[in-house]
Amino acid sequence: MSQATPRAIAVIGAGVMGRGIALVAAKAGFETQVIEPNAAAAESARAEIEKILKRAGEKGEWDAATVSGIRDRLRWSETLEGAKGAGLVIEAVPEHVGLKAEVYSGVAPHLAADAVIATNTSSLSITELAAISDRPKQFVGMHFFNPVHRMRLIELVRGLETGEDALRLVEEVSRVMGKETVQVRESPGFVTSRVNVLIGNEAFAMLETGVASARDIDKALKLGLNHPMGPFEMVDLVGLDTRLFILEYLHQALGERFRPNPLHVQYVKAGRLGRKVGRGVYDYPQE
Ligand SMILES: NC(=O)c1ccc[n+]([C@@H]2O[C@H](COP(=O)([O-])OP(=O)(O)OC[C@H]3O[C@@H](n4cnc5c(N)ncnc54)[C@H](O)[C@@H]3O)[C@@H](O)[C@H]2O)c1
Repeated sequence: MSQATPRAIAVIGAGVMGRGIALVAAKAGFETQVIEPNAAAAESARAEIEKILKRAGEKGEWDAATVSGIRDRLRWSETLEGAKGAGLVIEAVPEHVGLKAEVYSGVAPHLAADAVIATNTSSLSITELAAISDRPKQFVGMHFFNPVHRMRLIELVRGLETGEDALRLVEEVSRVMGKETVQVRESPGFVTSRVNVLIGNEAFAMLETGVASARDIDKALKLGLNHPMGPFEMVDLVGLDTRLFILEYLHQALGERFRPNPLHVQYVKAGRLGRKVGRGVYDYPQE
Protein backbone atom coordinates (compact mmCIF):
# COMPACT_ATOMS: atom_id res chain seq x y z
CA MET A 1 0.00 0.00 0.00
CA SER A 2 1.25 3.52 -0.78
CA GLN A 3 1.47 6.34 1.73
CA ALA A 4 -1.85 7.73 0.55
CA THR A 5 -3.61 4.50 1.47
CA PRO A 6 -5.39 4.45 4.82
CA ARG A 7 -4.64 1.67 7.29
CA ALA A 8 -8.15 1.56 8.70
CA ILE A 9 -11.56 1.77 7.03
CA ALA A 10 -14.91 2.26 8.77
CA VAL A 11 -18.00 0.90 7.05
CA ILE A 12 -21.25 2.46 8.29
CA GLY A 13 -24.32 0.23 7.90
CA ALA A 14 -24.03 -3.56 7.57
CA GLY A 15 -27.05 -4.24 5.36
CA VAL A 16 -26.98 -5.84 1.91
CA MET A 17 -24.00 -3.71 0.80
CA GLY A 18 -22.13 -2.73 3.97
CA ARG A 19 -21.43 -6.34 4.97
CA GLY A 20 -19.93 -7.07 1.54
CA ILE A 21 -17.85 -3.88 1.55
CA ALA A 22 -16.55 -4.76 5.03
CA LEU A 23 -15.60 -8.23 3.81
CA VAL A 24 -13.60 -6.98 0.80
CA ALA A 25 -11.96 -4.26 2.92
CA ALA A 26 -10.81 -6.79 5.52
CA LYS A 27 -9.69 -9.21 2.78
CA ALA A 28 -7.61 -6.42 1.21
CA GLY A 29 -5.75 -6.00 4.51
CA PHE A 30 -7.48 -2.95 5.99
CA GLU A 31 -8.37 -2.84 9.68
CA THR A 32 -12.13 -2.72 9.21
CA GLN A 33 -14.59 -1.28 11.68
CA VAL A 34 -18.21 -2.14 10.89
CA ILE A 35 -20.78 0.20 12.46
CA GLU A 36 -24.31 -1.15 12.68
CA PRO A 37 -26.75 0.05 15.39
CA ASN A 38 -29.38 -2.59 14.63
CA ALA A 39 -28.43 -5.77 16.55
CA ALA A 40 -30.41 -8.09 14.27
CA ALA A 41 -28.78 -6.59 11.14
CA ALA A 42 -25.31 -6.92 12.72
CA GLU A 43 -25.99 -10.54 13.63
CA SER A 44 -27.22 -11.36 10.13
CA ALA A 45 -24.16 -9.58 8.63
CA ARG A 46 -21.77 -11.59 10.82
CA ALA A 47 -23.53 -14.83 9.93
CA GLU A 48 -23.45 -14.06 6.20
CA ILE A 49 -19.76 -13.12 6.24
CA GLU A 50 -19.02 -16.33 8.16
CA LYS A 51 -20.93 -18.34 5.55
CA ILE A 52 -18.96 -16.75 2.70
CA LEU A 53 -15.65 -17.37 4.54
CA LYS A 54 -16.56 -20.99 5.22
CA ARG A 55 -17.59 -21.63 1.63
CA ALA A 56 -14.50 -19.90 0.19
CA GLY A 57 -12.31 -21.88 2.60
CA GLU A 58 -13.93 -25.22 1.76
CA LYS A 59 -13.72 -24.61 -1.98
CA GLY A 60 -10.07 -23.64 -1.62
CA GLU A 61 -10.74 -20.18 -3.14
CA TRP A 62 -9.18 -18.50 -0.09
CA ASP A 63 -6.50 -20.19 2.00
CA ALA A 64 -6.71 -20.56 5.81
CA ALA A 65 -4.43 -17.55 6.45
CA THR A 66 -6.63 -15.31 4.28
CA VAL A 67 -9.79 -16.45 6.06
CA SER A 68 -8.35 -16.02 9.56
CA GLY A 69 -6.81 -12.65 8.59
CA ILE A 70 -10.27 -11.41 7.51
CA ARG A 71 -11.78 -12.51 10.84
CA ASP A 72 -8.98 -10.77 12.77
CA ARG A 73 -9.32 -7.49 10.91
CA LEU A 74 -13.11 -7.15 11.27
CA ARG A 75 -14.32 -5.20 14.33
CA TRP A 76 -17.95 -4.46 15.14
CA SER A 77 -19.49 -1.46 16.81
CA GLU A 78 -22.99 -0.11 17.42
CA THR A 79 -22.01 3.56 17.50
CA LEU A 80 -20.28 6.02 15.20
CA GLU A 81 -17.47 6.39 17.73
CA GLY A 82 -16.20 3.14 16.20
CA ALA A 83 -15.00 5.14 13.17
CA LYS A 84 -12.20 6.70 15.24
CA GLY A 85 -8.83 6.24 13.53
CA ALA A 86 -10.29 5.45 10.09
CA GLY A 87 -8.66 7.23 7.16
CA LEU A 88 -11.63 6.32 4.97
CA VAL A 89 -15.27 6.01 5.97
CA ILE A 90 -17.57 4.17 3.58
CA GLU A 91 -21.21 5.00 4.28
CA ALA A 92 -23.78 2.34 3.30
CA VAL A 93 -26.97 3.34 5.16
CA PRO A 94 -30.37 3.43 3.39
CA GLU A 95 -30.96 5.73 0.44
CA HIS A 96 -32.38 8.75 2.34
CA VAL A 97 -30.65 12.13 2.33
CA GLY A 98 -31.83 12.89 5.90
CA LEU A 99 -30.49 9.64 7.29
CA LYS A 100 -27.15 10.02 5.51
CA ALA A 101 -26.90 13.61 6.80
CA GLU A 102 -27.38 12.37 10.38
CA VAL A 103 -24.58 9.87 9.87
CA TYR A 104 -22.15 12.49 8.49
CA SER A 105 -22.75 14.93 11.34
CA GLY A 106 -22.59 12.11 13.90
CA VAL A 107 -19.33 10.64 12.61
CA ALA A 108 -17.45 13.93 11.95
CA PRO A 109 -16.34 14.56 15.59
CA HIS A 110 -14.65 11.13 15.64
CA LEU A 111 -12.64 11.63 12.44
CA ALA A 112 -9.25 13.19 11.74
CA ALA A 113 -9.40 16.36 9.65
CA ASP A 114 -7.90 14.60 6.60
CA ALA A 115 -10.16 11.52 6.68
CA VAL A 116 -12.20 10.92 3.51
CA ILE A 117 -15.90 10.05 3.47
CA ALA A 118 -17.16 7.91 0.59
CA THR A 119 -20.85 7.20 0.08
CA ASN A 120 -22.11 4.04 -1.57
CA THR A 121 -25.29 5.80 -2.73
CA SER A 122 -26.73 4.34 -5.93
CA SER A 123 -28.25 7.56 -7.16
CA LEU A 124 -28.16 10.56 -4.83
CA SER A 125 -26.21 13.72 -5.66
CA ILE A 126 -22.63 13.49 -4.38
CA THR A 127 -22.43 17.29 -4.49
CA GLU A 128 -25.52 17.61 -2.28
CA LEU A 129 -24.33 14.95 0.20
CA ALA A 130 -20.84 16.51 0.23
CA ALA A 131 -22.31 19.94 1.01
CA ILE A 132 -24.20 18.45 3.96
CA SER A 133 -20.98 16.89 5.28
CA ASP A 134 -18.26 18.93 6.99
CA ARG A 135 -15.69 18.08 4.27
CA PRO A 136 -16.86 18.58 0.64
CA LYS A 137 -13.28 18.30 -0.74
CA GLN A 138 -12.79 14.97 0.99
CA PHE A 139 -16.13 13.56 -0.05
CA VAL A 140 -16.61 11.17 -2.97
CA GLY A 141 -18.94 8.48 -4.30
CA MET A 142 -17.75 4.88 -4.17
CA HIS A 143 -20.50 2.85 -5.82
CA PHE A 144 -20.00 -0.86 -5.18
CA PHE A 145 -22.05 -3.65 -6.75
CA ASN A 146 -23.87 -6.56 -5.23
CA PRO A 147 -22.55 -9.11 -4.25
CA VAL A 148 -19.51 -6.98 -3.43
CA HIS A 149 -17.01 -9.83 -3.10
CA ARG A 150 -17.85 -11.08 -6.62
CA MET A 151 -18.50 -7.90 -8.64
CA ARG A 152 -15.41 -6.34 -10.19
CA LEU A 153 -16.44 -2.72 -10.68
CA ILE A 154 -16.57 0.33 -8.44
CA GLU A 155 -17.94 3.56 -9.95
CA LEU A 156 -15.96 6.46 -8.46
CA VAL A 157 -18.19 9.51 -8.51
CA ARG A 158 -16.86 13.00 -8.36
CA GLY A 159 -18.97 15.81 -6.87
CA LEU A 160 -18.45 19.45 -7.77
CA GLU A 161 -16.03 19.99 -4.88
CA THR A 162 -14.36 16.55 -4.71
CA GLY A 163 -10.59 17.06 -4.48
CA GLU A 164 -7.87 15.20 -6.39
CA ASP A 165 -6.42 13.74 -3.18
CA ALA A 166 -9.72 12.14 -2.17
CA LEU A 167 -10.16 10.70 -5.64
CA ARG A 168 -6.61 9.30 -5.63
CA LEU A 169 -7.20 7.73 -2.21
CA VAL A 170 -10.37 5.88 -3.25
CA GLU A 171 -8.74 4.84 -6.52
CA GLU A 172 -5.87 3.32 -4.57
CA VAL A 173 -8.19 1.63 -2.03
CA SER A 174 -10.24 0.17 -4.91
CA ARG A 175 -7.07 -1.14 -6.54
CA VAL A 176 -5.90 -2.77 -3.29
CA MET A 177 -9.38 -4.34 -3.00
CA GLY A 178 -8.75 -5.89 -6.43
CA LYS A 179 -11.49 -3.88 -8.15
CA GLU A 180 -11.67 -2.11 -11.51
CA THR A 181 -12.88 1.49 -11.46
CA VAL A 182 -14.55 3.98 -13.78
CA GLN A 183 -14.72 7.69 -13.03
CA VAL A 184 -18.10 9.33 -13.34
CA ARG A 185 -18.96 12.98 -13.05
CA GLU A 186 -21.83 13.79 -10.70
CA SER A 187 -25.07 12.86 -12.44
CA PRO A 188 -28.25 11.21 -11.09
CA GLY A 189 -27.91 7.42 -11.14
CA PHE A 190 -24.32 7.63 -12.51
CA VAL A 191 -23.89 5.23 -15.45
CA THR A 192 -24.98 1.85 -14.12
CA SER A 193 -28.04 2.64 -11.96
CA ARG A 194 -29.45 4.89 -14.65
CA VAL A 195 -29.55 2.08 -17.21
CA ASN A 196 -30.34 -0.72 -14.76
CA VAL A 197 -33.48 0.83 -13.22
CA LEU A 198 -34.98 1.39 -16.68
CA ILE A 199 -34.51 -2.29 -17.55
CA GLY A 200 -36.09 -3.31 -14.24
CA ASN A 201 -38.98 -0.87 -14.64
CA GLU A 202 -39.72 -2.10 -18.16
CA ALA A 203 -39.64 -5.69 -16.90
CA PHE A 204 -42.29 -4.80 -14.28
CA ALA A 205 -44.38 -3.09 -16.99
CA MET A 206 -44.28 -6.30 -19.05
CA LEU A 207 -45.18 -8.43 -16.03
CA GLU A 208 -48.03 -6.08 -15.14
CA THR A 209 -49.53 -6.22 -18.63
CA GLY A 210 -49.09 -9.99 -18.96
CA VAL A 211 -46.53 -9.92 -21.78
CA ALA A 212 -44.72 -12.87 -20.18
CA SER A 213 -44.20 -14.50 -16.78
CA ALA A 214 -41.44 -13.26 -14.45
CA ARG A 215 -39.48 -16.49 -15.07
CA ASP A 216 -39.74 -16.08 -18.85
CA ILE A 217 -38.78 -12.39 -18.78
CA ASP A 218 -35.70 -13.31 -16.73
CA LYS A 219 -34.91 -16.24 -19.03
CA ALA A 220 -35.30 -14.07 -22.15
CA LEU A 221 -32.81 -11.47 -20.94
CA LYS A 222 -30.34 -14.10 -19.75
CA LEU A 223 -30.36 -16.38 -22.77
CA GLY A 224 -31.34 -13.90 -25.46
CA LEU A 225 -29.38 -10.83 -24.39
CA ASN A 226 -26.64 -12.55 -22.40
CA HIS A 227 -27.42 -10.75 -19.13
CA PRO A 228 -25.89 -12.74 -16.26
CA MET A 229 -29.06 -12.25 -14.19
CA GLY A 230 -32.68 -11.60 -15.08
CA PRO A 231 -34.17 -8.22 -14.07
CA PHE A 232 -36.39 -9.81 -11.39
CA GLU A 233 -33.57 -11.91 -9.95
CA MET A 234 -31.59 -8.67 -9.85
CA VAL A 235 -34.27 -6.54 -8.15
CA ASP A 236 -34.84 -9.31 -5.57
CA LEU A 237 -31.12 -9.21 -4.80
CA VAL A 238 -30.92 -5.40 -4.67
CA GLY A 239 -34.10 -5.04 -2.58
CA LEU A 240 -37.35 -3.71 -4.05
CA ASP A 241 -37.43 -0.86 -1.50
CA THR A 242 -33.89 0.26 -2.34
CA ARG A 243 -34.68 0.10 -6.07
CA LEU A 244 -37.86 2.10 -5.54
CA PHE A 245 -35.97 4.88 -3.71
CA ILE A 246 -33.63 5.11 -6.69
CA LEU A 247 -36.46 5.20 -9.23
CA GLU A 248 -38.33 7.89 -7.29
CA TYR A 249 -35.19 9.99 -7.11
CA LEU A 250 -34.42 9.59 -10.83
CA HIS A 251 -38.06 10.29 -11.67
CA GLN A 252 -37.76 13.58 -9.84
CA ALA A 253 -34.32 14.41 -11.28
CA LEU A 254 -34.56 13.13 -14.86
CA GLY A 255 -38.26 13.01 -15.69
CA GLU A 256 -41.19 10.83 -16.70
CA ARG A 257 -39.30 7.91 -18.22
CA PHE A 258 -38.19 6.97 -14.68
CA ARG A 259 -41.73 6.93 -13.16
CA PRO A 260 -41.84 3.76 -10.94
CA ASN A 261 -44.09 1.02 -12.29
CA PRO A 262 -47.26 0.65 -10.13
CA LEU A 263 -46.80 -3.12 -9.71
CA HIS A 264 -43.33 -2.53 -8.25
CA VAL A 265 -44.81 0.05 -5.83
CA GLN A 266 -47.50 -2.47 -4.84
CA TYR A 267 -44.93 -5.18 -4.11
CA VAL A 268 -43.09 -2.79 -1.77
CA LYS A 269 -46.36 -1.90 0.01
CA ALA A 270 -46.99 -5.63 0.48
CA GLY A 271 -43.57 -6.00 2.15
CA ARG A 272 -42.21 -8.08 -0.75
CA LEU A 273 -38.76 -6.48 -0.52
CA GLY A 274 -36.71 -9.28 -2.05
CA ARG A 275 -34.28 -11.94 -0.87
CA LYS A 276 -33.50 -10.11 2.38
CA VAL A 277 -37.04 -10.79 3.66
CA GLY A 278 -37.55 -14.15 1.93
CA ARG A 279 -40.04 -12.83 -0.62
CA GLY A 280 -39.89 -10.43 -3.55
CA VAL A 281 -40.93 -11.18 -7.11
CA TYR A 282 -39.94 -14.76 -6.22
CA ASP A 283 -40.15 -16.68 -2.94
CA TYR A 284 -36.96 -17.63 -1.06
CA PRO A 285 -37.38 -20.30 1.59
CA GLN A 286 -35.37 -19.07 4.64
CA GLU A 287 -32.44 -21.30 5.58
N1 LIG B 1 -28.68 -3.05 -2.50
C1 LIG B 1 -27.87 -2.87 -3.54
O1 LIG B 1 -27.73 -3.72 -4.43
C2 LIG B 1 -27.06 -1.60 -3.63
C3 LIG B 1 -26.04 -1.52 -4.61
C4 LIG B 1 -25.23 -0.39 -4.65
C5 LIG B 1 -25.44 0.65 -3.75
N2 LIG B 1 -26.46 0.56 -2.83
C6 LIG B 1 -26.62 1.69 -1.89
O2 LIG B 1 -26.01 1.32 -0.66
C7 LIG B 1 -26.70 1.95 0.42
C8 LIG B 1 -27.18 0.90 1.39
O3 LIG B 1 -28.06 0.02 0.70
P1 LIG B 1 -28.37 -1.45 1.24
O4 LIG B 1 -29.08 -2.15 0.14
O5 LIG B 1 -27.15 -2.06 1.84
O6 LIG B 1 -29.43 -1.09 2.41
P2 LIG B 1 -29.94 -2.02 3.62
O7 LIG B 1 -31.27 -1.47 4.02
O8 LIG B 1 -29.80 -3.47 3.27
O9 LIG B 1 -28.86 -1.72 4.78
C9 LIG B 1 -28.69 -0.48 5.40
C10 LIG B 1 -28.14 -0.72 6.80
O10 LIG B 1 -27.84 0.54 7.41
C11 LIG B 1 -28.17 0.43 8.79
N3 LIG B 1 -28.36 1.76 9.34
C12 LIG B 1 -29.47 2.53 9.35
N4 LIG B 1 -29.21 3.70 10.00
C13 LIG B 1 -27.92 3.65 10.40
C14 LIG B 1 -27.07 4.54 11.12
N5 LIG B 1 -27.53 5.72 11.54
N6 LIG B 1 -25.78 4.16 11.34
C15 LIG B 1 -25.33 2.97 10.91
N7 LIG B 1 -26.10 2.07 10.24
C16 LIG B 1 -27.37 2.41 9.98
C17 LIG B 1 -29.45 -0.40 8.80
O11 LIG B 1 -29.68 -0.97 10.08
C18 LIG B 1 -29.14 -1.44 7.72
O12 LIG B 1 -28.53 -2.59 8.27
C19 LIG B 1 -27.84 2.78 -0.22
O13 LIG B 1 -27.38 4.08 -0.40
C20 LIG B 1 -28.05 2.08 -1.55
O14 LIG B 1 -28.59 2.93 -2.52
C21 LIG B 1 -27.26 -0.54 -2.73
